[in-house]
Amino acid sequence: MAEINYWYFGIPAASIAVIYIIRRIRVWQWGRISDRYSLEGKTFIVTGANTGLGFETTKALIKRDAIVIMACRSISRAEEAMKKIQKETSKGRMIPLHLDLASFESIYDFVQNIKTNYPTFNCLINNAGLAMPDSKKKTDDGIELHFGTNHIGHFLLTRLLQDRIKTNRARVVIVSSLLHEKGEINFNTIGKVVEETEASSISRTNNPFYNNSKLANFYHARELFKSGYDAHVLCPGLCHTDFFRDYNPRWYHYVIFSPIVWLLLRSAEQGAENIVYCATANQNTDEKNPATGYFVRNLKQTKSKVKFDDQIGARLWKESEIICSSILVREERKNERQYQVRNVHTDRKKDDFLLDMLRQCQDAGIGLKMN
Ligand SMILES: NC(=O)c1ccc[n+]([C@@H]2O[C@H](COP(=O)([O-])OP(=O)(O)OC[C@H]3O[C@@H](n4cnc5c(N)ncnc54)[C@H](OP(=O)(O)O)[C@@H]3O)[C@@H](O)[C@H]2O)c1
Repeated sequence: MAEINYWYFGIPAASIAVIYIIRRIRVWQWGRISDRYSLEGKTFIVTGANTGLGFETTKALIKRDAIVIMACRSISRAEEAMKKIQKETSKGRMIPLHLDLASFESIYDFVQNIKTNYPTFNCLINNAGLAMPDSKKKTDDGIELHFGTNHIGHFLLTRLLQDRIKTNRARVVIVSSLLHEKGEINFNTIGKVVEETEASSISRTNNPFYNNSKLANFYHARELFKSGYDAHVLCPGLCHTDFFRDYNPRWYHYVIFSPIVWLLLRSAEQGAENIVYCATANQNTDEKNPATGYFVRNLKQTKSKVKFDDQIGARLWKESEIICSSILVREERKNERQYQVRNVHTDRKKDDFLLDMLRQCQDAGIGLKMN
């Protein structure tokens, strides 16, 4: 009888066992929320709640009896997501509302709806986001899509809700990414689509426009925290979601990267733990908070490698306000709403014009205030 060579079985079995153990250790390092107290009576607004991390965040909050306003750009996708969650639990309450962060008009309408119907919310979770392999795309208002959606959309949303956030003492949770450490804030190119040469720097593994928008998210949280808001910023970790849908991965990418991905990638549910933790449990201290460069990762306060600059933070805030208010000028004419679209990027010298636009926004009651 031929002798069995145990190496043929031993080596693969040992490799699988090692990968399994590494995975278990990593899952343990990612952490898990231990205290799941009831959130009955608490209202959370979650942007991008229909899929990925937003969906899992919604589900986790609903299972704890919360009310979740699902702020989504497609109501039918939000309703589908709601039905999926309802199959798992009858707790809580979900309210799907339309919000397209790439449209100022949509943000404005969403804010009016919240202020009228759900003014006493307890937490705003700025989760929605995208990364595209194409740097030429713009929002409805002409802003480069990554910066416009991931930062400016959420900036305007938060700014317009700021009075309610203050009155309600609501928490603001901002979903950034570890990739903020690779970003930069360049005021010459901010919010603009780019020339061919810069566009070529986008690759499958590096998208500077995404990284920059995630750094802007961190600065946004810092400035909010410095102004006295209960702001929290986080990285969910590399997660298995719909996030890479626009990159069209090829079949061999799956084959080559599967083992690495299996070791590194979290489920959307595991990643969302960081969001839920920030929304319900994380405490900022004098030493560890967004202003001192700390963000939540693996359910722990983690120091960013970025040397944050207060002047850049203040200027980004101002520039973001200018972009918002100078593009969106609301006029009521015979009960018909009209929007004048003005592109500030073409002429930065017209400070008086821009300040005037800010005043008009304030007069129109869209909530932007001059500092
Ligand atoms: N996945 C990761 O590995 C990872 C790592 C670090 C940070 N993050 C951050 O986590 C957040 C959530 O990402 P995800 O992984 O859950 O991605 P995802 O599965 O692609 O979900 C993104 C969500 O954002 C929504 N969205 C995109 N553009 C929008 C717009 N203009 N208006 C309103 N909603 C919009 C999407 O809506 P539709 O379904 O309608 O497109 C979707 O609900 C993002 O901010 C991302 O930067 C993710």
